[in-house]
Amino acid sequence: MNVREARSNTSIWVIDPSSDVDAMEVKEAGAMLASGRLVAFPTETVYGLGADARNTDAVTRIFQAKGRPSDNPLIVHLHNVSQVESIAEHIPPLAHRLMERFWPGPLTVVVPVKPGIISERVTAGLNTVALRIPNHPVALALLREAGCPVAAPSANLSGRPSPTEASHVIHDLEGKIDGVVDGGPAQVGLESTVVEVRGDHIIVLRPGGITLDQLNDVSDNVTMEGAEASAPRSPGMKYRHYAPQGALTLVQGEAGERVQWIQRQIDEAKARGKLTGVLAFAEHEALYEADLVLSLGSKSHPEQAAHLLFRRLRKLDEHQIDYIWVESPSETGIGVALLNRLVKAAEGNVVRI
Ligand code: TXA
Ligand code: MG
Repeated sequence: MNVREARSNTSIWVIDPSSDVDAMEVKEAGAMLASGRLVAFPTETVYGLGADARNTDAVTRIFQAKGRPSDNPLIVHLHNVSQVESIAEHIPPLAHRLMERFWPGPLTVVVPVKPGIISERVTAGLNTVALRIPNHPVALALLREAGCPVAAPSANLSGRPSPTEASHVIHDLEGKIDGVVDGGPAQVGLESTVVEVRGDHIIVLRPGGITLDQLNDVSDNVTMEGAEASAPRSPGMKYRHYAPQGALTLVQGEAGERVQWIQRQIDEAKARGKLTGVLAFAEHEALYEADLVLSLGSKSHPEQAAHLLFRRLRKLDEHQIDYIWVESPSETGIGVALLNRLVKAAEGNVVRI
């Protein structure tokens, strides 16, 4: 039994990504997307909440279901590079090289949009559109079945940690959307890297699953848009994001002193009757005495922390932890994206010991 009709009107289909992608359930979910309904689906980064990108009513429902500000544009998901030509006004040569190199994969490329095809709700009135082909067998099969470009933000309530499992989507959106395709946990665990190109220059609007080093293989000229830029070109970057309910402090500094400092904060909070939590690298996990200590994997494998971060933040919420301290990752490889999400989750509450 692969389908269960939940208490609400949200259908839930369970699909095994290694064998089931031709299943009837995928066809049914694809047909729902094509008929203007909202279906959440797995990608290699996080779960997305999909709707036909040409259908303004459907796209409007995405914003309503998530409580998302309407000036924050959506990524359009495709299954084939040949679809790009019908959506992009033109494809700059460097953008084309990036697509060839990293698609399917966790890279989103912003290109000039052809007027009149994609709903203006998707682009939030900008003259560009963000495109990506996800590297996930279930997502690709679903997009093929839907047969339309699919606008899909992360399938969480706005401001909450992004969903890396179907249960996270169900928790946030059950009853507000038409279906969820459950294809198991997302591998990468952080969202795609969003880039724009200008001539031979790659501008990173949001760090993510494709690292700066990987982009550097394609062009020497890669820059990160300053997080403090007054008008960020990736509009979503200015909003509160990823935050757990407890107050999160991101702690940088040398390992030993950091453990001592965090433990002092824990002891003080406990004395005030508060529930305390720590996200620590596996090497330090046993050194803390808090109400909940969760591992981010080995500090020498930041991709483990990327995979785990959002589900750990949700776990802290389940336990109603009041104060959370997080060991800051080093800023290399996917650590750049991890740090970006953690600084946002901390709402600027970053301490260097
Ligand atoms: O990995 C991902 O990218 C996931 C999965 C579902 O594909 N999607 C995702 O979507 O993270 P969302 O909506 O949570 O984030 C999209 C980001 C936002 O920061 C948004 O502002 C930016 O992409 N964006 C979308 N269209 C843009 C455009 N035309 N120009 C600049 N930034 C854009
Ligand atoms: Mg999001």
